Amino acid sequence: MKWLLLFVVLLSLYLANADLNYNYYRLPTALRPQKYNLRILTHLENPKEFRFSGSVKILIEALQDTNNITLHSKDLTIDESQTTLRQISGNGTIDNCVTSTEVNPNHDFYILNTCQQLLAGHVYELKLIFSAELNKQLEGYYRSSYTDPVANVTKWIAITHFEPASARLAFPCFDEPGYKAPFAITLGHHRKFTALSNMPVKETKSHESLPDYIWTEFQESLPMSTYLVAYSVNDFSHKPSTLPNGTLFRTWSRPNAIDQCDYAAEFGPKVLKYYEELFGIRFPLPKVDQIALPDFKIGAMENWGLVTYRETDLLYSAEFSSLKDKQELSDTVAHELAHQWFGNLVTMKWWTDLWLKEGFATYVATLGVDYIHPEWHSGKLESLSNLLAIFRKDSLKSSHPISRPVGMVSQITESFDEISYEKGSSVLRMMHLFLGDESFRSGLKSYLERYSYKNAEQDNLWESLTEAAHKAGALPSNYDIKTIMDSWTLQTGYPIVNVTRDYTARTASLRQERYLLNTNLSRTDHKECWWIPLSFTNQEEKDFNNTAPKAWMECSNGGKSLPKTIEDLPGPDQWVIFNTQLSSPYKVNYDARNWKLLTETLNSEDFRSIHVINRAQLIDDVLFFAWTGEQDYEIALGVVNYLQRERELLPWKSALDNLKLLNRIVRQTPNFGFFKKYVKKIITPVYEHLNGINDTFSSIQQQDQVLLKTMVVNWACQYQVSDCVPQALAYYRNWRSEANPDEKNPVPINVRNTVYCTSIKHGSEEDWEFLWTRYKKSNVAAEKRTILTALGCSREVWLLQRYLELTFDPKEEIRKQDSRWAFQAVAKTEVGFLLAKEYFMDNVIYISKFNHHQLTKFIDPLELQVFTQKDYEEFKKFFKDSRESFKDSKEGVQRALEVILTNVQWKERNYEPFSSALQKNL
Ligand code: BES
Ligand code: ZN
Repeated sequence: MKWLLLFVVLLSLYLANADLNYNYYRLPTALRPQKYNLRILTHLENPKEFRFSGSVKILIEALQDTNNITLHSKDLTIDESQTTLRQISGNGTIDNCVTSTEVNPNHDFYILNTCQQLLAGHVYELKLIFSAELNKQLEGYYRSSYTDPVANVTKWIAITHFEPASARLAFPCFDEPGYKAPFAITLGHHRKFTALSNMPVKETKSHESLPDYIWTEFQESLPMSTYLVAYSVNDFSHKPSTLPNGTLFRTWSRPNAIDQCDYAAEFGPKVLKYYEELFGIRFPLPKVDQIALPDFKIGAMENWGLVTYRETDLLYSAEFSSLKDKQELSDTVAHELAHQWFGNLVTMKWWTDLWLKEGFATYVATLGVDYIHPEWHSGKLESLSNLLAIFRKDSLKSSHPISRPVGMVSQITESFDEISYEKGSSVLRMMHLFLGDESFRSGLKSYLERYSYKNAEQDNLWESLTEAAHKAGALPSNYDIKTIMDSWTLQTGYPIVNVTRDYTARTASLRQERYLLNTNLSRTDHKECWWIPLSFTNQEEKDFNNTAPKAWMECSNGGKSLPKTIEDLPGPDQWVIFNTQLSSPYKVNYDARNWKLLTETLNSEDFRSIHVINRAQLIDDVLFFAWTGEQDYEIALGVVNYLQRERELLPWKSALDNLKLLNRIVRQTPNFGFFKKYVKKIITPVYEHLNGINDTFSSIQQQDQVLLKTMVVNWACQYQVSDCVPQALAYYRNWRSEANPDEKNPVPINVRNTVYCTSIKHGSEEDWEFLWTRYKKSNVAAEKRTILTALGCSREVWLLQRYLELTFDPKEEIRKQDSRWAFQAVAKTEVGFLLAKEYFMDNVIYISKFNHHQLTKFIDPLELQVFTQKDYEEFKKFFKDSRESFKDSKEGVQRALEVILTNVQWKERNYEPFSSALQKNL
């Protein structure tokens, strides 16, 4: 692969020199920008003419002699008659000029051929004048709108979103993360608007010619990558919340939502301060603005000093947001603020190491939220959720390493996935746990200090951590972090460790192999080896707090797994458990006797003697092994049965995540009755324990019990446990009979998702209309999202068809950014699935244009419900026939097909044994 890449590079360079037909996805390296001066004039007054125009002056240093300037520009109209180029280093300025220009649309290159050669060691100033539409595509410099409820008029604002490669849509630039430079930005706009950017305002001046227009000039920034540049022109309100001696902090939203800023305004500066202490490095900019946007492509974006969010990810309403909503938005804020160091201060050299910022932000956010809200116990839940996500995604052949070569923009975009985020975070947590807090933190600090305002790759991190670890004696001196961690970041997948005990010798022999969900593939063909930290405990010790490795599984120099024997284990009547608190991302299978011992403890009063995360681990592991045939479903259900006693969130999360997948298949088969009965049986005790759907929330002390209740109630109503459905309908009826249902809602916030969904499912057309009206009137994004999801629960075919049309209606009663929530809501139900599938397949060309960034998000809910060979073939043909629409989602397509294939395998192999195991356990 490396050689191939090198070959491609050389070939492209050769072509570039040979005939100027440069067709490689990276910019040529002859030049580097030293500074940008950017002026943008934004027109938001005339709805017929939303435009911006601008000029950019770039100081460019020549590192090699060259005859052209190649930079990025996309969908910009450049007025070439005004382009100027001059040399400004040396004695005085010397005019140069441009003979001709070309574009390379494959890579968004704009190439200026110069009159005279640019000479190495000299600095040039290039000035370009450009303009473009202020688009509605949610990237580049785009427009967003909201309705002013008092005047009932539409208000428009302008905002940027650049990552990973859309700065080039807003101004010509060297749009790669390695080209850091300071930015001096000036925004021209009508004086009724506020202008924001990465830095604080330096001064404002009247516009020379446009009446009522002003120029807002910002201070020059520190050196930064183009994807982090941000600016906005808006009429928003803000809430200041600077802490004593802290960085200036403000939170912005449309005026009518300003009350919903209180929580983030309080939380943000606290997290920022925590990170300053955690990393031992002050936040380097003079201010942070965080802003909630009505239309935003993703959840949030960490632009340096001007962090942008969807409304759901920043705004909190005590009356309308659930605890889950609140925790999710806290996590987002903590994530984006962590990027201010990991990503903004130290940036990856290239998108290959995207995980260096996304994995870090994901991991560090769990520490930040845990610190500010210890009462949530969210650290454990987050770590487990991350692991559960990657155990699934990374068990596919079509997965990829954390760190891998990427080229085209579409491939970069596809890298923002569970592997960069959740697997990245999980391997960092593993390192934190095996190195200990002190060396982990001092390693990070020296990495951040060494590469501040620069770019880094993962080897740089390994080096800093190895140094710190050896200094503190936290790692054997013959071990280095690179050897260990490369096995996790450069290889696809994760291992399963097979533990076979010798009960008389009191030893266990360990063997590792890659865990693959697709059982058509031979596992022994795969020669991967991971350096695995082995933490373990046994029935007598129960020392689950010790997550430090007692031993390692090692790899030979040639990368082969070395056999490992563990000694001094307990006698034959005691279990052992490996991977305490799931400290590393691997699965563990045991011999039959050890499983039996574990199952016995789980099904006894003593089940709490196994740590709660390990209870979650045992469930996830055994259900995976049953899926792929290493274990019988009878043994697996023997483990699952213990849940009748379980009252904690994590094991339930683990079980229900797994049962959900089985449910999606089995509910379409004749044996669903057994499954339903079984689920009812295990869920009823915890449902009763939590007092069912009744509003007992104010008396719940433990916050994670609130989340448990939200989750259990959802299942209980789906499976018609006890009084769940009638109670849910009663709540809804009460709401409908309120005089002013938009102000007064008697449904408890934390079960609204279930109450709404159940009522739409069992309800009438009027119930649907009622909820849709609430959607249109709601002022809270979190509530809107809950409603959108519930509207898909109907079982009326025509209502669902109408809803699907509404979802992709260009009038955007449902905002483009939210279309995936609505579609997913329909697609994940029994009735909606077939309709959504057909709608998607029939309209894929339209949908891909309507919402081209999110196409795989539309396949996600579909793939889980397909399990016959015939339907597999149908999808395969569909993807093939629609390859143009899926050209930017190649990985998503591969993944979907493999998931379907593993469902087909499950049905063929497990349907009968699973059904009979269920019957035995009813
Ligand atoms: N840097 C990303 C934003 C991003 C994501 C840009 C995908 C381009 C493509 C940001 O820090 C991020 O990760 N946002 C997440 C939310 C976060 C809490 C996981 C998102 O938007 O989903
Ligand atoms: Zn991120």
